[in-house]
Amino acid sequence: MISKPSQIAKLQNKVAIVTGGASGLGEETARRFAEHGARAVVIADIQEEKGQQVAESIGLHCCTFIKCDVADEEQVKSLVDSTVERHGQLDIMFSNAGIVSKCMQDILTFDLSAYEKLFSVNVRGMAACVKHAGRVMVEGGVKGSIICTASVMANYGTGAAIDYVMSKHAVQGLIRCASKGLGEHGIRVNCVAPGPVATPMICGRLQMSAEDTERCFEAEFAIKKSGFLKARHVADAVLFLASDDSVFVTGHSLAVDAGYIPTN
Ligand SMILES: NC(=O)c1ccc[n+]([C@@H]2O[C@H](COP(=O)([O-])OP(=O)(O)OC[C@H]3O[C@@H](n4cnc5c(N)ncnc54)[C@H](O)[C@@H]3O)[C@@H](O)[C@H]2O)c1
Repeated sequence: MISKPSQIAKLQNKVAIVTGGASGLGEETARRFAEHGARAVVIADIQEEKGQQVAESIGLHCCTFIKCDVADEEQVKSLVDSTVERHGQLDIMFSNAGIVSKCMQDILTFDLSAYEKLFSVNVRGMAACVKHAGRVMVEGGVKGSIICTASVMANYGTGAAIDYVMSKHAVQGLIRCASKGLGEHGIRVNCVAPGPVATPMICGRLQMSAEDTERCFEAEFAIKKSGFLKARHVADAVLFLASDDSVFVTGHSLAVDAGYIPTN
């Protein structure tokens, strides 16, 4: 239950959707939005039990869970429309749901069927969320903020995880285009580009504990002696992009990566 009054509530009276909010970066951000006075935070995820638990732990007075597979445009449309029906408007869309497939694949071992599944979530799902959030914001005359989750990997070519790297490059293209189309309505579209954070997604893929995962990437961070990059650091950046603190920031990819450069 969120009880701690926030220092300065930056999202007073705002209505937000967080996709992939049942876990990791999305969960942490949903908590941050609630702490900062959001009137309603809707967690959208395919993990029903976990999503429900997170919503309850934040407090059902402001947080609810809706099961939604972002790969299915109809489900995204229904998520957005039901949010507006229930709460009157949508101010913030954090389109964050994403998956990884095979880490160890390069162009010669590229599994194109796994790529299609990954793109249906990481690219088509992101685009559907931006499209439908933009639609209801335009219809409602809301000068909202849309934030997607890209990755530091959107800035590099690597010899592994080729489909994931491609998908995150695509997210940057999406926000750049959408920021033009929606800018004339006063709607901002940005993304965060996190470095590696020990969430269930990465730990599960590497089959390592959170501690070992953090140590595994330690050498690749430029910032030393400040602890590890955590979900809360990414949530703070998303809060900045969601709030009026970033009122003239759009089409921007905000790196939250401790100066990470992948070496392997
Ligand atoms: N953890 C990292 O190091 C890292 C770094 C850069 C970018 N990212 C990105 O951050 C985002 C969140 O990842 P995370 O690390 O918090 O992982 P996570 O696995 O902890 O959370 C991802 C959430 O997305 C949900 N999800 C997956 N497919 C979905 C779908 N089709 N529809 C709705 N929800 C779905 C999952 O159920 C899960 O709750 C992803 O887009 C990921 O690519 C993560």
